Amino acid sequence: MATALGLETVLSVHHWNDTLFSFKTTRDPSLRFENGHFVMIGLEVESRPLMRAYSIVSANHDEHLEFLSIKVPNGPLTSRLQHLKEGDQIIVSRKPVGTLVMHDLRPGKHLYLFGTGTGLAPFMSVIRDPEAYERFDKIVLVHCVREVSELAYHDFLLNELPEHEFLGEYIQEKLIYYPTVTREPFRNTGRITTLVENGKLCQDIDLPQLNPETDRVMLCGSPAMLDDLCKMLDGMGFEASPSQGEQGDYVIERAFVEK
Ligand code: A2P
Repeated sequence: MATALGLETVLSVHHWNDTLFSFKTTRDPSLRFENGHFVMIGLEVESRPLMRAYSIVSANHDEHLEFLSIKVPNGPLTSRLQHLKEGDQIIVSRKPVGTLVMHDLRPGKHLYLFGTGTGLAPFMSVIRDPEAYERFDKIVLVHCVREVSELAYHDFLLNELPEHEFLGEYIQEKLIYYPTVTREPFRNTGRITTLVENGKLCQDIDLPQLNPETDRVMLCGSPAMLDDLCKMLDGMGFEASPSQGEQGDYVIERAFVEK
């Protein structure tokens, strides 16, 4: 096996519904990453590593790694990965990368994290980064899904994270979690684009309408979602980070769905 790949052991698996699951693995202590990064993970299939990009759900200060995945019935990797159980091994590349990093955002007051589907994953890491709370007055996590059962980590975000031993105070004071569902009744409904454009999101969370003077945004979702949200933000005067290492008002990452 190439030296850039390592093996980790599955510690636990959680199935959110028929199409979505998450799992925790051991972490090689030498693996360093920035919150928001993704890494290649996979399984050996026919004596070769079959690898796909996965955002890291766990924070860079956690001892373990965690990943969130959909189950694609005939997906080359996820059709196998969904059967993972405690004690199994998976391949993890040793080079986390990605563009969804806070350092590529200009200073601002409010940080908006807009994720659809498994696009939530990198933000689970970002919201557990103490630096995010030092840099911003409010962090608004919007997770948009089709059905209620796809709201992974909903109860954790609502009930457990505010009690977190070290981050609890920050979370209670600064994190606003706004789940929204598009194809079933729920307390919040509608796409992110609609909720921003009609002012409902900011009205509900009691913040001024999004504004490039004060607000910064991270986006993670399908190509169509990214297209629409980039157009919307550009139209509002936000500037994208031009390339990795260069600051902007917003940064984007594709949620890697075809697996
Ligand atoms: P909708 O149910 O109206 O399609 P998907 O599973 O297709 O990635 O969608 C996840 C969530 O993102 C769904 O709630 C979906 O809403 C929403 N969504 C899909 N495409 C877009 C888009 N172009 N702009 C904003 N939201 C989108």
